Amino acid sequence: PATRLWGGRFEGGPADALARLSLSVHFDWRLARYDLLASRAHSRMLHRAGLLTDDEADSMLAALDDLDEAVEDGTFRPTVADEDVHTALERGLLERLGSLGGKLRAGRSRNDQVATDLRLFLRDHARLIVSRLAELQTALIAQAEASGDLPAPGMTHLQHAQPVLFAHQLLAHVQAFTRDVSRLRDWDARAAVSPLGAGALAGSSLPIDPRQFAAELGFASAAPNSMDAVSDRDFAVEFCFAAALIGVHLSRLGEEIVLWSTQEFGWIEIDDAYATGSSIMPQKKNPDVAELARGKAGRLIGGLTGLLTTLKGLPLTYNRDLQEDKEPVFDAVDTLLLVLPAMAGLIATLRINAKRLRELAPAGFTLATDLAEYLVQHGVAFREAHEIVGHLVVWCQVNDVALDEVSDEDLAKISGHLTPDVRTVLTVEGALAARKGFGGTAPDRVAEQLAALRVTVDDG
Ligand code: ARG
Repeated sequence: PATRLWGGRFEGGPADALARLSLSVHFDWRLARYDLLASRAHSRMLHRAGLLTDDEADSMLAALDDLDEAVEDGTFRPTVADEDVHTALERGLLERLGSLGGKLRAGRSRNDQVATDLRLFLRDHARLIVSRLAELQTALIAQAEASGDLPAPGMTHLQHAQPVLFAHQLLAHVQAFTRDVSRLRDWDARAAVSPLGAGALAGSSLPIDPRQFAAELGFASAAPNSMDAVSDRDFAVEFCFAAALIGVHLSRLGEEIVLWSTQEFGWIEIDDAYATGSSIMPQKKNPDVAELARGKAGRLIGGLTGLLTTLKGLPLTYNRDLQEDKEPVFDAVDTLLLVLPAMAGLIATLRINAKRLRELAPAGFTLATDLAEYLVQHGVAFREAHEIVGHLVVWCQVNDVALDEVSDEDLAKISGHLTPDVRTVLTVEGALAARKGFGGTAPDRVAEQLAALRVTVDDG
């Protein structure tokens, strides 16, 4: 039997095609426990308003608790005849209370209910995502700490540029995730507005106070405009954006892991537990976790784009299009909760090839800038210094030697400014130590950065 919430004025039942199109219970069922939370607040409100007697309120709350347990242990499930989570739960209530169950619907609409449920769901899950982000950050910080003063060839355009501490590069990713955490925090401040009490769109004629709902459900305030309350989905869009940007950060980290684990880079080795093999090539060890992290950014960005597109032409207030808000945010939550632990595990267990990184740090003439800056400190104009070092680099390439392998005579032939003392800056350690300004890659600065990040991440 159909359990529709809106049968009164209709003669026949809905067409099958409509019923199938309209159905959302297969995805919005995961809001059930939040819906019940809001229903408890609502029954207390009806009681205070004199619309439920003491006994009725007691029975109502007991039935809601019982239903909550049944939802949790799976003994109460939606059926295909339940259009959405609200319909299914009203059926559960009617099964427990008979006609008394029908009293709970006074003064509310699925429009304010669903907006409330989704906010509750997202605020909860955003906190979960923040704690998974912290685990990934912790893994990156631990690897940075373990790598100590190990250098790496810092890159621009994927070309060797200047030596950096490998830790500095790892912590750059931690900085991005730190912004993500703070973004979810300020998102929460805007999401903490309760739509409940807005009814269908205009508020209620019954003596119920939306501000009491807000307080009971842990929101900071009630929506000041009932029309906005039921039609606003900014919180869902903003959440999808925060999730998409986390996805982009995971993807960029993933791409680095993919590169670093190639034979050509050889910077790291992925632990067996976080690598996969090939069905045909016995030697293969593939970085699938990193690739999936990179690949999943696509669906997160797609969810955001889809939701914005759904909203862009909607008149106020509730329109059924809004039912399309749920799948993208659920998918964003599920995707991040899948990817973040896998990436944290991958990072925590990877092995760094220190020997290889030490060899590569000065390769590709990464000390050329140091040499030019050294000449500047000895009175040469940077333009000329740049030119001189450029000539030296070409000379080295032609003769297949590194910068520090050129003899004194050959240096002098290239430029009179290239006296033997230039050799003092031609070490990776010297180049690193010299970049000692705030935010630079000097070991002391990186150690400070690491300590500050540890505090930020641990304080959560
Ligand atoms: N399942 C609906 C949704 O997710 C609930 C609200 C239905 N409201 C309505 N007026 N038909 O948006």
